[in-house]
Amino acid sequence: LSKIEVKLSDIPEGKNMTFKWRGKPLFVRHRTEKEIAAEAEVNVAELRDPQHDMDRVQNPKWIIVLGVCTHLGCVPIANAGDYGGYYCPCHGSHYDASGRIRKGPAPLNLEVPYYEFPDDDNVIVG
Ligand code: FES
Repeated sequence: LSKIEVKLSDIPEGKNMTFKWRGKPLFVRHRTEKEIAAEAEVNVAELRDPQHDMDRVQNPKWIIVLGVCTHLGCVPIANAGDYGGYYCPCHGSHYDASGRIRKGPAPLNLEVPYYEFPDDDNVIVG
């Protein structure tokens, strides 16, 4: 399937769920108020792949990224690592709760796919 529809009310606040989309893992994460505030405050100038959180989300409650480490393609672990976002155990890349690379060998942020919210409780990716 080229598109996937995800029901957002199935994902509790603070949780990341993994789906399979176009043969790859897709992460949909329901961020907490604390995570939203922390990611909005990050100084973009200090980032390896400088992107404001605002430019990576459509609704700050939801971060939607491919679960493919930009180093060599392993699947990162959610809610882990020094920045509380994602941690790739293959060679130790730490991503924040916006999926931005913060530490370790990965060169780029986790990729944000094309998606839209048809209504308040669903997202369609692809
Ligand atoms: Fe993720 Fe190397 S593949 S750190």
